[in-house]
Amino acid sequence: MISIAILGHGVVGSGVAEVLLHNEKGITAKAGDKIRVTRILDLRSFPDLPYADLFTTNFDDILNDPDIRIVVETMGGLHPAYDFVKASLLAGKSVVTSNKELVAAKGDELLAIAKENNLNFLFEASVGGGIPILRPMDQCLAANEVFEVAGILNGTTNFMLTKMIREGMSFDGALALAQKLGYAERDPSADVEGHDACRKICILASLAFGKHVLPEEVHTEGITNLTEQDVAYAAACGGVIKLVGRATRTEDGHLFCYVAPMILPRDNLLADVNDVFNAIMVRGDSVGDVVFVGRGAGKLPTASAVVADVIDEVKHLKARKYLFWGPGEKGHVRDHRLAPTRLLLCFSCEEDAGALVQIGRMFGDVRMISIPDAPDNEVAFVTPCMPEYLLEEKIATFTGMTLTRRLRMY
Ligand code: HSE
Repeated sequence: MISIAILGHGVVGSGVAEVLLHNEKGITAKAGDKIRVTRILDLRSFPDLPYADLFTTNFDDILNDPDIRIVVETMGGLHPAYDFVKASLLAGKSVVTSNKELVAAKGDELLAIAKENNLNFLFEASVGGGIPILRPMDQCLAANEVFEVAGILNGTTNFMLTKMIREGMSFDGALALAQKLGYAERDPSADVEGHDACRKICILASLAFGKHVLPEEVHTEGITNLTEQDVAYAAACGGVIKLVGRATRTEDGHLFCYVAPMILPRDNLLADVNDVFNAIMVRGDSVGDVVFVGRGAGKLPTASAVVADVIDEVKHLKARKYLFWGPGEKGHVRDHRLAPTRLLLCFSCEEDAGALVQIGRMFGDVRMISIPDAPDNEVAFVTPCMPEYLLEEKIATFTGMTLTRRLRMY
């Protein structure tokens, strides 16, 4: 029998306990050993639960228990999760976590400690909830040179955008519904401002390209400013707005990495991923495009990925699994303004601005876009592809034209 402890009995932690209890027989068969939760750390008590006696408020009860071989961290946040995970690894316990904030900030350090101590540190649930993505990327796609990873990485915002696009719901109404259904983070600004997606693209980029990418290196825009007109303009371009996290490798081995609302063309493999679903597209030189789709949030989908990692760790208590990336490097992630970019731009124009002449002078022959009910003095077009800083320099030369909308095209 393998004893494990769970840190945090919130949405995911309670889901992990539930999955382990409900599926005990099958899990035992797959792990080759019985897995028993012997301790749960939480500041609250849960006297009505059948396993109420497992709770402790003292982490030392877990750290100092030599029988506990695996620690499952589902507390979320950086502290004390980081301190507890690091201490667990240093005490010779393998760790599973669903905590993307922790992995995005400290993944390289914790992976190195696990490696030095011949332990496992697995975190499949930290990206895409129940979608298998890290293990397939690391193992099944190992023969490829990956040159891009892009995804719809936040279920809450994808759910909200779907409601706004299909049902004309307001931003606030859609957010309230997402919170009611338990998709949003405790602080929903992490979802709607793009920070949650940023952490996930950091983890994907670190694994795909081998060096740690920190959230502060990733340009991040959220969906808080999106309006019905943005949705309409995306449709007029033949596309759909999604919050996308994207990491691309440059020819000289650096990265562009950002999170932003983007207009995806309708035939893009990510364009039809709706509701709370997440999708991650990996582009490899041999395999081409591969897309992983599934429920990216929610108690049981996320718990299922955590428990799968626990099973894997039980099977590899002696032989470490090789999931690893190294420390980051200054300059590895390039300034996003150097990335080749196409923008949909909208301007409100003064009557005698000569808008079309100015646009033609700066950008040549562009594709003009119009939506029903647009004000008469509004012009919109899609720019050619060039580094974003050059687009900005050109936009700054316009006179009598005020920029009112700026959306990235995928
Ligand atoms: N709030 C997150 C989301 C939960 O909506 O995707 C899973 O990370």
